[in-house]
Amino acid sequence: MLPVVPCGVQVLTKEAGEVSIWSLQEIQRATLAIMDDLLRTILEGYELPKEGLHGPRHWIRVSRVGLELAKATPGGDPEVVYLFALFHDSRRENEDTDPDHGLRGAELAGSMRGTHLLHLNDAQFELLRYACTHHTDGETTTDPTIGCCWDADRLDLGRVGIEPEVEYLSTAAGREWLRS
Ligand SMILES: [Fe+2]
Repeated sequence: MLPVVPCGVQVLTKEAGEVSIWSLQEIQRATLAIMDDLLRTILEGYELPKEGLHGPRHWIRVSRVGLELAKATPGGDPEVVYLFALFHDSRRENEDTDPDHGLRGAELAGSMRGTHLLHLNDAQFELLRYACTHHTDGETTTDPTIGCCWDADRLDLGRVGIEPEVEYLSTAAGREWLRS
């Protein structure tokens, strides 16, 4: 069966360009199936121990904190922040120095754009790509979405024995989180 593209409650099937109406339940089921497959694909290619410093436990913490920061940051895009949490460390090859791992995470997202990330527009995808590629460059940013991504990652540095520092945080919400 060919993939379908949810679009509101109208669904465009790729067979003969037919349009059919889906219930919200059907859209929900399809969305969950896509997310389930996205997570499975990311995890299947993760080469390091799942319980390690840069594995899924870290991704979950980054997503939780990142979504809170996005909620408190005008212009912060929670969808991009959540996807950053899943992709940014997903193609690390070691737990130490691996300068290109963010780029590889961004490339993985690019390879899944036409299958699992169809809902992202070009601007959202560019934010995700940039945030993943440059998340270890030590920069800060004025972009609210990228700021939430990087701050959420840096606020989890305590797991590797590094105290997060306020000058490396980009958002007011991130700085407030550190002070709290
Ligand atoms: Fe990370």
